[in-house]
Formats: sequence, structure tokens, C-alpha cells
Amino acid sequence: MCENLQEFVALLERNNELIRVKVSVNPYLEITEITERMAKSPGGGKALLFEKVQGSDFSVLTNAFGSKKRLFLAFGGQTPDEIGKRLAQLLRRRPPETLLEKWQMLKAARGVNQFIPRKKTKRVPCQEIVLKENEVDLYRLPILHCWPKDAGPFITLPLVFTKSLSSPWTNVGMYRLQVFDKNTLGMHWHIHKDGAHIFSEYEKAGKLMEVAVAIGCDPVLTYAATSPLMPGMDEFFLAGFIRRKPVKIVPATGVNLFVPAEAEFILEGYIDPKESRLEGPFGDHTGYYTPADYYPVFHVKTITHRRKAIYATTVVGRPPMEDCYLGYATERIFLPLIQLLLPEIKDYRFPWEGVFHNLVIVAINKTYPGQAAKVMHGLWGLGQLSHTKIICVVDGETDLNDSVSLMKRILSSIDLEEDLYFTKGNLDALDHAANWPCFGGKLGIDATERLTTEPPRKNKNVKVESCLDKLSLMDNCFREVKVLFSDLPLAVYLFRVKKGEGKELHKMREVFWEKGIIKKGIVVFLDEEVNLADASYLLWKILGNIDPIRDISLKGNVLFVDATKKTSFNGYLRSWPEEVQGDPVVSRRVEAKLAEMSIPYLSGIGVK
Ligand SMILES: Cc1cc2nc3c(=O)[nH]c(=O)nc-3n(C[C@H](O)[C@H](O)[C@H](O)COP(=O)(O)O)c2cc1C
Repeated sequence: MCENLQEFVALLERNNELIRVKVSVNPYLEITEITERMAKSPGGGKALLFEKVQGSDFSVLTNAFGSKKRLFLAFGGQTPDEIGKRLAQLLRRRPPETLLEKWQMLKAARGVNQFIPRKKTKRVPCQEIVLKENEVDLYRLPILHCWPKDAGPFITLPLVFTKSLSSPWTNVGMYRLQVFDKNTLGMHWHIHKDGAHIFSEYEKAGKLMEVAVAIGCDPVLTYAATSPLMPGMDEFFLAGFIRRKPVKIVPATGVNLFVPAEAEFILEGYIDPKESRLEGPFGDHTGYYTPADYYPVFHVKTITHRRKAIYATTVVGRPPMEDCYLGYATERIFLPLIQLLLPEIKDYRFPWEGVFHNLVIVAINKTYPGQAAKVMHGLWGLGQLSHTKIICVVDGETDLNDSVSLMKRILSSIDLEEDLYFTKGNLDALDHAANWPCFGGKLGIDATERLTTEPPRKNKNVKVESCLDKLSLMDNCFREVKVLFSDLPLAVYLFRVKKGEGKELHKMREVFWEKGIIKKGIVVFLDEEVNLADASYLLWKILGNIDPIRDISLKGNVLFVDATKKTSFNGYLRSWPEEVQGDPVVSRRVEAKLAEMSIPYLSGIGVK
């Protein structure tokens, strides 16, 4: 098990999972360009260690978690599924009956000791160099300016330590930090996150909030900071459990917080709850720019670091990127915990096109009427899962790994009138589709087989042919149509449309209906510029752009889905975000550097 990032780098290299980039690279857009190409190459490519970063003495590590193999190495030779099973064993203990069971329980209880972090007081690696007050200069760190329209450089893989005022709980969360100047950062914790909850305690008490940030830790602790643990639960515990070994911690030099002794960098300072500043925009993991908004300001009073520190960071953008693998780890590790509360859940998947909060497919062992709806509502009430926009429930034996047969199964099962559950509720702060931030429509889809104790579906399996040739009778706003699953009772019709004021789409729906062009199926409207050839891109686009209540309507047997950009005509008063894309000039410059690095397989892979 790696004690620190340097050991992890060495482990990746021994396993041929790391490439050292020796050409000089600019942290302004260039590292992103190379990392994106790597992250999007089959299976997630390799981790990258940039050894010559312009303007900094430190090297930069990206894509370290970006494949299943590297996750396995990060977790000390355990798959996320195996960790989940260990967690389940810990939680599902029944009272011991035999002497052997009593002994095993005692042993397990002693093992709990491993979860508790070990305090160190002697000189530790993270404090080899200590820079205080005027010596603090964040510009010495090779912090990436990731995307052309980002508001500045952002620290993207930080572990943020804060302490509750009402209990002895220290929280570790991952919240990005925008560099405002040489000693202040924007703290981007979303309203739903534990860091923000603790912050509100300080706001109420009118007290300065001490904060420490670690950059570049042992990989398990880094993962733990991203995990959706319940409030009050300590991420150090989770890390100790996964590592089977405690995390070493040390008192920070200037704030009353413990920090990981083996970290590469530690930033110490405070947040004044009365102060906020415009943070963003930032090219986010949703694939869109998150718009600027007001967030607390973190004043950095001290930086401590290893003498030869490695700066760990990540590049997020349209999936798949490195964070998809961190999300995958959470999906697998947390399944047994969710099964404790909803035991009928056999398995689930968060397809990366759904950027974690837009779609979850859940397979259940169904035994009573309405159980699919019960599972939807259960998940909509659970921690960070409660932000999920669309939940689709299928039967337990469904293969969740084969997306085409899964789609076929869903489209062959559901009745549009009976199996769609629309509701409203809390949404992830990064959802851009709803008219209001953090609140909007949700959709549950019951694609389970009916039990004999449930009313049978009325319209199932009846196919009605469409008359697409009648399309020409309509106005010329259609650019292209593509039909998917045409052999199924519910075919999917994708239309690329030219939309003016939004009104036309509303008209289109009526005309479609009146002219009987499509009598049964799912009709999806997409913007003119959308590429209908790329299924993964389309799914990402549709899931991101819809508010189910505003944008999905059923007329007879046709489900209309408006996945175009929204305007004030649709009641959308926010500004619709731009898609995250690299700069073509930087892209060409990087092509030349890649040739110099002799990594030809990266050339041309970037998504342009
Ligand atoms: C690379 C990466 C960056 C993230 N950035 C943010 C962020 O800026 N703000 C945020 O609220 N959550 C962010 N998250 C998600 C949180 O880390 C995650 O929800 C975590 O559970 C939060 O911890 P908490 O439950 O202790 O608040 C990020 C996750 C990853 C993997």
C-alpha cells in the first residue's frame, strides 16, 4: 500500500502505467490538451508526469487514477468491488454464536484501530519546507489553467480539511480552488456538501474558519476526499479501512487542524464567513462551463511542502476523463451501503454520459407491486444520490454492462403512459438544464416486468409504423433525422433542428402530431450543430440538456423530448452554458510536441 504520492508514482512506473513527459510544457492549456487526449484514449491511457513545466520548479502528475488498472494499484491491489464487499462484511455482522465467531469479532474490532489516523509530531515530509506570510506565493506552483474560457488557474485535486464547531468531526472533501492572486483562492464547495455545511456553522457563529488543503497525498486518501460519506463520518476512517493501515497525520504549523504527514503540499489559512468573491467560470466535469458565482475566499497564510514535491492535479471536461474512474470507484464501494437501506437493489450503474448525477440504472429483485417506484423514491432521498435526475429501474437479472441490449430491453418493456414517474426535487449544483439552480424536474422509469399482482401494461409490444416521408410537408427546420431501434415497439427518432425562438419547436410538436408523421415512439429534438453519429455524445447531450418536467411531454403514444438549448421562451432565465472545448492553436502546438515526445498514439485523439 502506497504511503504517499511518490510511492504511487514509482508503482505506476513499475507497472508501465506512467509516461514521463520530458519536453517543456506550458501549464496554460497545453497540459490539458495532452491530458485530455490521454484520458480519452482507449481504457484511459497512462498517467502523465510532466517533468519540465514552464514557470515552476515542480513536476505535474495527471491522469493517475484514470484507468481500472491504476485504480487497482491505487487501492493496494484491491478492486473497488472487493473493497465494497469488505465494507459489507463489516456492516452485516450478526451477534457471534460460537467461540470462533467471538474470536473473529474481537479480531475485527481490534482491526478498527487501523482506521484511526496516527498522529506524528516529529519532522514530517509535508513540512520539509515552510513558507509563511510574505513568502507565500501560489504562482510558484504549476497550477493549470485548464480551458480557454476558465476564469484563471484552478487547483483541481485538492483535499480540503475543515473542522465542525458543533462536534469533534473533521471533514475532508475535494472542492476545486481558483487562484485569485498569490495568496487567495476561491473555495468552490457546493451548497449540498459537507464543507459548506461546516462553513454555515462558522457563518452563524461569526467566527473565522480555519482551513487546510493538501495536494498530492497517498492515493487512497485522495479517493476518500471524493467519496460521498455521510456528514459526521471521517474520511480518514474510510482511508484507513481501505488501506488496512492508518493514515499518518501531523498538526498543521499555523492552524488547529491535522493534515496528512506524507502530503506533497499543504496550504494553511482561513476563510472569513463575511467575505465572498465571484468564482469561475470553469470548464467542468459535466463538459460545460460552470458559470461564475459567489464563493468564500480562502486566505493562504502558510505553504508547506516536500523538498522535491510533485504537484498532483486532474483535468475534467466532457467524459470520459479521469474523474469517471473516481466515480466508478464510488459506485462499486458504496453499493453494499446502499443495499443495507434498499436491500432489493442487486446492482446499479452510473453511465459516464450521465456525469454521475443525470442518470442511474438500477437492477432490483422485485417481489411486490410498486417496488420500482419505491426504489426511485428511496434513492431520491439518499445523500448525494438524491440529486439524481433520471432513475431507470430494471429487473435483477438484466446485464447492466451491455448498453445496447439494456436500451433494447427498456424500450421493449415500458409503456409510455404508465411507466414514467415525473417529480420535482433537489438537483446537483452543476445541473444546467433546470430553470432554477439546484431544483427542477426528475424522471423515474419503471422498466421492470409486471408481477401477476400488478395491473398489466396496456400498450406493450405494439409496433406502429411511422411516415417520415410526410416530413417534407412541414417547414424546413429539420436538418437531419436518424432512427434508432427501428425494429422495436418504441423506436427513437432523433431530429437535428434549426430552432429560432423556441416557439417553432412547440409548433413542430403539434404538426408532428396532427400530420401523424410518427404515431408511436420517442422523438428527440436536438440542436442543429449536434453530431448524430456519436451515440455516447448524444446520450451525454440529451441527459444534460433536459429538465424532465419542462422538456418531456406525451401526446398519444409519442414521447417528445426537447434536448435543445433553452431560452426565455421555455421559462429559462439563466444563461445557457457553453460546451468545454480546447483551443485549436494550442492543439496544433501540442501535436508538434507529441511528435517530439514520440508518443504518436496520442496525436489526433483529442476531441475537436
Ligand atoms: C476531481 C473532482 C473535483 C471535484 N470538485 C468539486 C468542487 O469543486 N465542488 C464540490 O462541491 N464538489 C466537487 N467534487 C465532488 C466532491 O468531492 C464530492 O461530492 C465529495 O463527496 C464531497 O465531500 P463531502 O461529502 O465531504 O462534502 C469533485 C470531485 C472530484 C472527483
